[in-house]
Amino acid sequence: MLWIENLGVHPEHRRKGVGLKLLRRASLDAKKKGAKAVQSVVMPDAKDAVMLHKKVGFFIDGRKFAFLDLENFQ
Ligand SMILES: CC(C)(COP(=O)(O)OP(=O)(O)OC[C@H]1O[C@@H](n2cnc3c(N)ncnc32)[C@H](O)[C@@H]1OP(=O)(O)O)[C@@H](O)C(=O)NCCC(=O)NCCS
Repeated sequence: MLWIENLGVHPEHRRKGVGLKLLRRASLDAKKKGAKAVQSVVMPDAKDAVMLHKKVGFFIDGRKFAFLDLENFQ
C-alpha cells in the first residue's frame, strides 16, 4: 500500500499537468514495487485535489481518504 499524506504544486505552476504526473508516477512506481493500492489524504472541500484524484482514477466517497486499486491501473 502506498500512503500519500500530502501533495502540493507551487501556485505559479498549477493547472499544467504537474500534479497529475506526480500522482500517476508515484502510483505506478508503487505498483512496480508490489503495492496493491494507494490511499491518499484529500480534504473533501479541496476541489482541486478532489478533481485531480478523480481524474487519476481514485475512488472518493466524501471521506478524508481517496482510494486507488492498482490491479488494473496503468
Ligand atoms: C491539488 C494540486 C496538487 C493539483 O496540482 P496541479 O498540478 O495544479 O494539477 P494538474 O494541472 O495536474 O491537474 C490535473 C487535473 O486535476 C483537476 N484539477 C486540478 N486543479 C483543479 C481546479 N482548481 N479546479 C478543478 N479541477 C482541477 C483537473 O481535472 C485537471 O485536469 P485538466 O487541467 O485537464 O482539467 C494543486 O492544486 C495544489 O497543490 N493544491 C494545494 C494543495 C492541496 O490541496 N493538495 C492536496 C492535498 S492531497
